[in-house]
Amino acid sequence: MPDVPPSPLYSHEDPLSVLNSAANLSRKLEAIHEDVLRRIDAVHRIAIATYDGATDLLKTFIASSGPNNTLVYYDAKLADSPSLKEILRVGRPRVVNDLDLFRKGSHTHTQVIKEMGFRSSYTMPMYQNGTFWGFVFFNSLQADVFTPERLRLLDVYGHLIASLVTSEILAVRVLAAAVKTAHDMVHFRDPETGTHIDRMSRYSRLIARHLAASGIHRIDDRTIERIFEFAPLHDLGKVGIPDRILLKPDRLTDEEREVMKTHTTRGLRMIEEIARNFGLEHFEGLDLLRHIAESHHEALDGSGYPRGLKGDQIPLEARIVAVADVFDALTSARPYKPAWSNEEAFGFLRKMAKGKLDGDCVEGLIGNEKEVKEIQRQFTDEARDREGKRG
Ligand code: C2E
Ligand code: SIN
Ligand code: SIN
Ligand code: FE
Ligand code: FE
Repeated sequence: MPDVPPSPLYSHEDPLSVLNSAANLSRKLEAIHEDVLRRIDAVHRIAIATYDGATDLLKTFIASSGPNNTLVYYDAKLADSPSLKEILRVGRPRVVNDLDLFRKGSHTHTQVIKEMGFRSSYTMPMYQNGTFWGFVFFNSLQADVFTPERLRLLDVYGHLIASLVTSEILAVRVLAAAVKTAHDMVHFRDPETGTHIDRMSRYSRLIARHLAASGIHRIDDRTIERIFEFAPLHDLGKVGIPDRILLKPDRLTDEEREVMKTHTTRGLRMIEEIARNFGLEHFEGLDLLRHIAESHHEALDGSGYPRGLKGDQIPLEARIVAVADVFDALTSARPYKPAWSNEEAFGFLRKMAKGKLDGDCVEGLIGNEKEVKEIQRQFTDEARDREGKRG
């Protein structure tokens, strides 16, 4: 009991006060879900999928479904789901009061939802300044849950969820854009940019998905997407390396190599600076970016740099990016070395998996050779020049 009885003016406890805190988005979504359940106890799952217009892909982003929350990762083309597309065409949310309607549906979403036993759903499109960027799904194990009166209530929750997710997505974009701008402004001329970045960020995502799908590590979809978005920034600190070393068409001397190694800690310092300048120090994704920039040259046996971390001391995201980076460096021609074949590079990675690189990450790449080849086919220097992209 407090010494002074609380004034009745302040007796109400806001059930959504966690939204005021720096808690992560999953925790905030859970709090909203709990509050929804106090009013409509049959809303068993709330999920968000984000949409990427460039690829027409809809991706699971985050979900809340009570104590046994499982987020099944999938991405699927919006074009393959006529009934979700219809939401955008008519400009209205979709109410399905018995998912039996979708019994014959083949869309990945519908499959996942059916397997989980859901019977009814309410789906709201999310827009930011008129641009569509995803859906919020309310799902129930019971049929006929979504009455007009309940929908009026869920609309308010849906918009609240949408604005929370938007600000999170914006923070990631602002941070990535700020770091990239810093990169570009100092006339970054690392010969390895361009397609190296395109490929190695996709290899990183491929590895992260493998680790998550095979249950080796718990990595949620948002983290996988962030690894993909932040992997291109791993060598940011090369900005501070003098051209005579960075652009040297020859093998580096030991002295030059020591200077080159400072790109890891330089990158970390730049990220701290940028995060401070943009007021993003508390952004929960920042650690991921820090780890990728600082620790992508660490080795499991402690022989890496800059800190000589060992095994699990090396953050998982850095172990993932390391494999992607080395594989692409080996299979690319550099002024000081020819490109290796995939077979040679895979063989080398297998050897490195004993003591240097993370074996599960190596397996995630080698075990997905088809996807690796597809990435290599799609992101060649020639394709990039054709599209007139920055090289
Ligand atoms: P990078 O080219 O992106 O290479 C990333 C990592 O891939 C390297 O980290 C190394 O672990 C591996 N790697 C790349 N090429 C080879 C290779 O021919 N043989 C083997 N065994 N491993 C290879 P590392 O060594 O810490 O190098 C970091 C960065 O320093 C490189 O990034 C590159 O920008 C630069 N660099 C490294 N060695 C040389 C060099 O001899 N000459 C020049 N001009 N730059 C170099
Ligand atoms: C939908 O369009 O969302 C349902 C149809 C399907 O799953 O194929
Ligand atoms: C979902 O909740 O992830 C999608 C299900 C649907 O299409 O209604
Ligand atoms: Fe590097
Ligand atoms: Fe690299």
